[in-house]
Amino acid sequence: MNAGIRAVVRSGLYYDLNVFGIYRGFDGMVNGDIFPMEAKSVANIIQRGGTMLKTARSEEFKSPEGRAKAYENLKKFDIDALVAIGGDGTFTGSDIFMKEYDMPIMGLPGTIDNDLQGTDFTIGYDTAINTVINAVDKIRDTAESHDRVFIVEVMGRDSGLIALRSGIGTGAEAILIPETKLDFSGFLTRLDKTRKNKSSRIIIVAEGDKDSDAFSVADKVKDRFPHYDVRISVLGHIQRGGSPTCMDRVLASRLGVAAVEGLLEGRKGEMAGLQGGNITFTDFGNAIKHIDHVNPNLLKIVDILSL
Ligand code: F6P
Repeated sequence: MNAGIRAVVRSGLYYDLNVFGIYRGFDGMVNGDIFPMEAKSVANIIQRGGTMLKTARSEEFKSPEGRAKAYENLKKFDIDALVAIGGDGTFTGSDIFMKEYDMPIMGLPGTIDNDLQGTDFTIGYDTAINTVINAVDKIRDTAESHDRVFIVEVMGRDSGLIALRSGIGTGAEAILIPETKLDFSGFLTRLDKTRKNKSSRIIIVAEGDKDSDAFSVADKVKDRFPHYDVRISVLGHIQRGGSPTCMDRVLASRLGVAAVEGLLEGRKGEMAGLQGGNITFTDFGNAIKHIDHVNPNLLKIVDILSL
C-alpha cells in the first residue's frame, strides 16, 4: 500500500495538483484527519509493509450524517477528488459517497486476498504468497526430517487464491480451497498413495474453506491413518506484513499513476487494475462482484504435480 500511496502523491505533484493524505481512510475523512503531502512525505516508504496512512473500519461513515461530516471536511481542504486503496468495503463506501456528493473517486485494489475482479493481481497478494512459501519451505524441513504430515492454514478470507498459488509454489501435496468441493475419501486415499514417493506431506488449507478447516482435516487424517505424525500450523498475520516484493511495488506504482491520470482524464468510480500486462479500469460495482473462479489449469497442475 505504501508504494501505491507514494505513486499517487508523486504523480499528483507531477501533474501540479495539491495532494493531501487522509489518516485511517473514511474514519479520517469523518474526523478531519487530513494533512498536506509533499514529495518528501512519501520518501523511503516503497520498501515498507503496511500503510503509512494507517487504516480503520469506520462505523460513522456508514451513516448519512457521517458522510456529511466527511464531505464538509474535504471541502475545508478544497479536496475535489479522491483515490481510495482497498477492497470490498472501500469500494462500496466510495461508490455511495461518490454518488451522494458528486465526488470523483478512483480506486486501487489493495488486499492480500486477490479476490477483486478487473485485475489479475491485487496489491499485497504477491508479497503474501511469497511470505507463505518462505514459511512453508521452513515447515517442510521439519516435515521432511520427521516424516510428518503438516496441515498449513493460510489467509484469504472467502477466497482460496493465496492457498492455490502458494500451494503450487511450495509443491504442496494437496490444496483445500472454498471454491472447490472436496471428495474427502479420495483425498485421503491419494494422500496415502503419495507416501511411497515422499516422507513429508504438506496440505495447504484456505481459512475460508469452512467444510474442511485445518483442525477437522487433521482429525480426519489421524482417524484414518493413526500412525501418521500430523501437525497443524496456522500462519496468520505474518502474511499481511513485511517488505513488499518487487512485483507488488511495480504493480502499486503503475496503478497509482494510472488512478491519478484516470482522474485527470475525467474517470471516476473505477478501480485501476492490471490485466494481461495492460492497465484497465473496472467500475466499483463490478470490481467487488464475488465470482468464485479459480483457474482450472492451476488446479490441474496441483493434481499432476503432487504425485
Ligand atoms: O482481507 C484480508 C485479510 O488479511 C484476510 O485474508 C483475513 O481473513 C483478514 O483480512 C484478517 O483480518 P483481521 O486482521 O481484521 O483479522
